Amino acid sequence: MERKDFIEKVGMSGAALLVMGCLGSCSKSGSSSSGGTTNTNPVDFTINITTAPYNVLQNAGGFYVDSATNVIIAKTSAGALIAVSSLCTHQAVTIEFQNTNNRFYCSGHGSTFSTAGAVTNGPATTALKAYKTALSGSLLRVYE
Ligand code: FES
Repeated sequence: MERKDFIEKVGMSGAALLVMGCLGSCSKSGSSSSGGTTNTNPVDFTINITTAPYNVLQNAGGFYVDSATNVIIAKTSAGALIAVSSLCTHQAVTIEFQNTNNRFYCSGHGSTFSTAGAVTNGPATTALKAYKTALSGSLLRVYE
């Protein structure tokens, strides 16, 4: 094989590898489709809060757990849409939002967390990861 032929073959296969590698990992995602979620790592997804099952977030005290990302989104009695990790930092039981107490609660062993994710009662000792939220019309973006 002549040098020119070798370079052409290597060049072609290298370009093919780049294209193939990019097909699997270069896609840009993180935005929503209607009513569904897409997620990437880090957390960044958008939901339509007028569409089930997210429409529970239109009511104070309503909350939704996204099992794909392990994020719980809740609407506080003051109307804020907040999001934290849905897995208790004690033993990873899925938490819920308690509107009457304005807190997150774990039924596993009774840990409670503030709306910002801070531990307010153990046995958990580590705060929940808090996520940012941004509401634009009916679209709620949850992100880091
Ligand atoms: S798993 Fe939540 S308090 Fe134990």
